[in-house]
Amino acid sequence: MRAMQQFEWSEKCSVGIPELDAQHRHLIELLGELMKHMQSGEVDGLAEAALKELNRCAESHLQREELVLRVRGYPSYAEHKAEHDTYRTKLASLQLHSERGDFGFRITNFVTEWWRFHVLGSDQEYARFFRGQSTKV
Ligand SMILES: [Fe+2]
Ligand SMILES: [Fe+2]
Repeated sequence: MRAMQQFEWSEKCSVGIPELDAQHRHLIELLGELMKHMQSGEVDGLAEAALKELNRCAESHLQREELVLRVRGYPSYAEHKAEHDTYRTKLASLQLHSERGDFGFRITNFVTEWWRFHVLGSDQEYARFFRGQSTKV
């Protein structure tokens, strides 16, 4: 299996909302767990359990974040929600092919890259928006 780069938490990941930061941190930990189990390739059950736990926490984070953005009146809410929905759709379509030999690699690669890109990208856009708002008061 090609080596994948692990996604590590850093201050650059912070969105300035403690509840969402804690969820992102936890998701990043779970991504690390998933990668570890996928790469060791010894016990399939562990990788499966790690993926299941990641999916559970990911969905609960996405819903919570959507609620927070909606309640706080984030102007780019619709675009942000659409990105989450793209993740959900892509994940579901990848999971239809769990029998493929490269399933573990494909799914781990997808979730790791998506979360890295999203937390450091679109999530930072709402973080900047809300930080700007709080200094205007
Ligand atoms: Fe997020
Ligand atoms: Fe998000």
